[in-house]
Amino acid sequence: MSRDHYDDLTIVRYGHPALREKAVPVRRVTDSVRRLIERMVELMRAARGLGLAANQLGIPQRVAVVEIDDRFTPLIDPEIVSATGSETGEEGCLSLPRLYGNVPRPTRVVVRARDLFGKRIKLTADGMMARALCHEIDHLNAKLFVDRADESSLYWLMGHTEEGEPITQQTTLEDALKVFVAARPSEK
Ligand code: NI
Repeated sequence: MSRDHYDDLTIVRYGHPALREKAVPVRRVTDSVRRLIERMVELMRAARGLGLAANQLGIPQRVAVVEIDDRFTPLIDPEIVSATGSETGEEGCLSLPRLYGNVPRPTRVVVRARDLFGKRIKLTADGMMARALCHEIDHLNAKLFVDRADESSLYWLMGHTEEGEPITQQTTLEDALKVFVAARPSEK
């Protein structure tokens, strides 16, 4: 495939306006939507993420991808139709690199979306997959995991010891967000 403008897309960080913009439905799944998804998968895998939403590439369209246990799920115009249970677990986000915290999520969700051919699909997910779907659909609704995280659980992952143990540093939400905003490149 020849180079196109999708190749230039990168993952934007906290402070970019697209992360706080509610994404609009795609409705028609065109080649350009499929090409966007292809680029999102590349970026997600390169960053070793479990999911990515189009807002995170600066494109406020209702498109997201999730990949857990080698199972790739594209999500076009996804919508949570039912959610049950609640479980707190750790989350991070490629737009807030190295920051982690505990977020309560439903244990099971049913999601309606479109597949790569525009056909309506319905999927039921539990546990980690349910968490990832909620996190990505939140992105499309301009929400970030830090909006829902238990603030006392927030920490920076600073690195790992020689034994592979994580080195962490607790942070408040305010201090963490300041770091991202201070690091932002100036924009036109
Ligand atoms: Ni995220």
